[in-house]
Amino acid sequence: MGGRFITLEGIDGAGKSTHLASLATRLASGGREVVTTREPGGTPLAERLRELLLHSPMDSLAETLIVFAARRDHLDQVIAPALARDATVLCDRFTDATFAYQGAGRGLSLEVLMHLERWVQVGRQPDLTFWFDLSPASAAKRRVAVRSPDRFEQLDVAFFERVRDGYLDRMRAFPERFVRIDAEQSAANVWSQIVEALEARHW
Ligand code: TYD
Repeated sequence: MGGRFITLEGIDGAGKSTHLASLATRLASGGREVVTTREPGGTPLAERLRELLLHSPMDSLAETLIVFAARRDHLDQVIAPALARDATVLCDRFTDATFAYQGAGRGLSLEVLMHLERWVQVGRQPDLTFWFDLSPASAAKRRVAVRSPDRFEQLDVAFFERVRDGYLDRMRAFPERFVRIDAEQSAANVWSQIVEALEARHW
């Protein structure tokens, strides 16, 4: 596996999508192939599962099994082949989101999540994770602009407080790959933090 696997994480409204395209452009500047993708999603099957996750009522275990089924297909069809040909994979959300949303947010057993993570990913973790961190109150203000919120975007501040704590726990578990971005700042300052982290790695 020669390629680099980079993920973007954060609560809804943190602003990660704003920086995805510029990040892809910067990573491709050295002539490297960059594959930009997202979870749940990234393959025809996983995109269908995404629609179910975002719009059909279900319990937290069903949510978890759906995201891992989507992830399995995505890893198999897109992520692993791209890394094998030395491409950079830039993925909007990955398993940290499952620990944050289904684990911390919904209260699903972390032990169950760890088992599924091991089965589905066979040890693979991202090389670098940008965690766009801001307060749930600020994120809620940014989300006001969203026209039709999905099942997650409708949840209250208390849910997103738990999700944020879930991300913090993941950062503590994987300090070597996590970079916390202060997403409370202006878009220009957020971008500088991203560039700084890449430069520190000579990427
Ligand atoms: P998001 O990535 O924020 O896309 P958009 O910008 O189009 O709204 O939306 C995906 C939603 O799915 C988000 O609310 C978090 C949720 N999600 C989980 O609950 N578990 C997961 O494992 C993943 C990957 C996402």
